[in-house]
Amino acid sequence: MSKSIKVVVTGAAGQIAYSLIPRLVDGKTFGDKIVNLALVEIPQVVDKLEGLVMELEDSYFPNMGEVTYTDNFEEASKDADWFLLVGSIPRGIVYNGKKIEERSDLLSINGGIFVDQGIAIGRYGKKNAKILVVGNPANTNAFIGKHAANNDSQLWMAMTMLDANRAKSILAKKTNNNVSDIKNMIIWGNHSPTMYPDSENVQILGELGSSVINDINWVESDFIPKVQQRGKAVIDARGASSATSAAKAAIDTVIACENPTDPGDCFSAAIASDGSYDVPKGIICGYPLMTLEDGSIEIKRDISLSEFAKNKFQISIDELLSEREAVKHLMQ
Ligand code: NAD
Ligand code: LMR
Repeated sequence: MSKSIKVVVTGAAGQIAYSLIPRLVDGKTFGDKIVNLALVEIPQVVDKLEGLVMELEDSYFPNMGEVTYTDNFEEASKDADWFLLVGSIPRGIVYNGKKIEERSDLLSINGGIFVDQGIAIGRYGKKNAKILVVGNPANTNAFIGKHAANNDSQLWMAMTMLDANRAKSILAKKTNNNVSDIKNMIIWGNHSPTMYPDSENVQILGELGSSVINDINWVESDFIPKVQQRGKAVIDARGASSATSAAKAAIDTVIACENPTDPGDCFSAAIASDGSYDVPKGIICGYPLMTLEDGSIEIKRDISLSEFAKNKFQISIDELLSEREAVKHLMQ
């Protein structure tokens, strides 16, 4: 075994984390590296993590290194390579006497968490740290955190991999293929009901989606809303927000960042716009991404968008701009 890596996970006593954390140390996500874990929770529940640590020890993970837990995020951040920021309040629960159903509620409750965490990551995280925000509203939380971190050598992402995996599953069923036959699945924009899952540029068994799926009605009234509303559908059916699929998507994102992307493929995550595809600079927007041989991560820039796609994408960009406006007070 070679190098070691330090991974910070917030919300470590939550439901996503329970599926996520064992997979970080199973020897597959980070290959043969030793994985040191720093688990973070709020003071009220941090002691529960003792039980999780016991279970990890009892699970026989040869690649697991040191596992610590704390309610002190700054302490956890020191020299970390990866931050998986899951800790936040999900939709579907009662918080301070009110059922949380709208993203705007989440924006006001969760946004503040990311200021202090961002400052600590910028100051104490590794120079080339990667940060994946899972907690909703993921794009705008990442926007707040990145601003607070003020450290451009670190890469902030918000998770849209779950949306891409959902879209692949729907397209595989529609075309009678396996999910692994669906490549280049792009989620443009926000991880929200405005996201635009791209059925035109997707590759289905090596062919462009626009030539395989000749059914614009299905795309518009079935495929797109199903992907956009899948999070709510899971909450309605399960009484809790998606957890095992969200954890798998976080792992898929880490693996996509740690390994070069196959030619012709891409992976989905939201990162700060550099103006690509006419998106205003700075907002954290879902893009097609590629990991290059040297480990750097870039936006794939040669995708052509139809007028239909541009219009759908613009709705999500506008939403991100209005979320940016709503959190202005956190951007000191
Ligand atoms: P959960 O309520 O089971 O767990 C969240 C945990 O975060 C709790 O244990 C809570 O104590 C902890 N927490 C809250 N504030 C914290 C802080 N400041 N520092 C550390 N920990 C903190 O929720 P869950 O089901 O695990 O979901 C977590 C988040 O992920 C929610 O916001 C949910 O909406 C979001 N989510 C995102 C996606 C996505 O695709 N981006 C998918 C599913 C869920
Ligand atoms: C999801 O997509 O499953 C999550 O973001 C949960 C939600 O609130 O939709």
